[in-house]
Amino acid sequence: MQTIFDTIKKVAIKIDHAIKTEDLGYSDSENSSGEDQLKLDVKSDYIIEEAFKDISIVKALVSEEKEGILALHEDGNYTICYDPLDGSSLADVNLSVGSIFGIYAGELKGENLVASAYVVYGPRIELVLAVKGEKPQHYRAQDGLFNFISEITLDEKGKLNAPGGTQQNWADHHKTFVDGLFAEGYRLRYSGGMVPDLHQILLKGGGIFSYPGTTDKPNGKLRQLFEVIPFAFIYEQAGGQSINDKGLRLMDLVPTHPHDTSPCFFGSNYEVNALKAAYGVEN
Ligand code: AHG
Ligand code: MN
Ligand code: MN
Repeated sequence: MQTIFDTIKKVAIKIDHAIKTEDLGYSDSENSSGEDQLKLDVKSDYIIEEAFKDISIVKALVSEEKEGILALHEDGNYTICYDPLDGSSLADVNLSVGSIFGIYAGELKGENLVASAYVVYGPRIELVLAVKGEKPQHYRAQDGLFNFISEITLDEKGKLNAPGGTQQNWADHHKTFVDGLFAEGYRLRYSGGMVPDLHQILLKGGGIFSYPGTTDKPNGKLRQLFEVIPFAFIYEQAGGQSINDKGLRLMDLVPTHPHDTSPCFFGSNYEVNALKAAYGVEN
């Protein structure tokens, strides 16, 4: 696992360099979710594939930017599912973007996730790593090396509300929930990049990030294997909760296709419990 983490650190430095120096325009292709790929999406995917392809413990790669599963080493133990550049359409307005990695042992489903990581490319490069049974670890890069800063623990209740999805297409009970938090004094924090938005909630003690099912996207937008499950793991390890719209743990998701999505909610305990009440899925 250390080899995988060390490789993530190396690719983070390279992707950051690409973001800062390369063309921010569109390529002439689409990804599996029907989104136009930016040249930076394609380049970041290439950097990650090149870095992992010779590592014998890596059985396969699953990327937001690739249609199927890329088989690497038959005897490898781990499949790495990743979003090479999350929030990439924010790069041209100079907002923070990220990379997300889920490391799975065996069949690709939530309960087989053994570690996850994300990188934030902002004013600084930051990295969060999580393994089972331990608090997530927060690092910051300096001169190309990642220095450990602290463990991450969510408070029981926070102050931030990050509500995703097109509001016009929200269900009434979702709107009631979001409005209820604002009526309690919560502050809106939503950049449109799940990595910096979820990172902010983790580091500022708590709150909730939601990306619900909507009338136009009943299963939400965010993809299970490389966006939802890796962050679900990190929020649980930090002492929070990560659930879907039925109140089920996102760590119990079993995707049937690499690019399946799910409604998702990540937060500290108070806000997720309030969400369960609003959705009528208390357990
Ligand atoms: P990606 O750039 O990898 O396609 O993902 C963007 C995602 C996520 O980062 C963000 O939270 C969400 O899309 C924003 O969607 P909305 O613009 O619909 O809120
Ligand atoms: Mn993404
Ligand atoms: Mn992406």
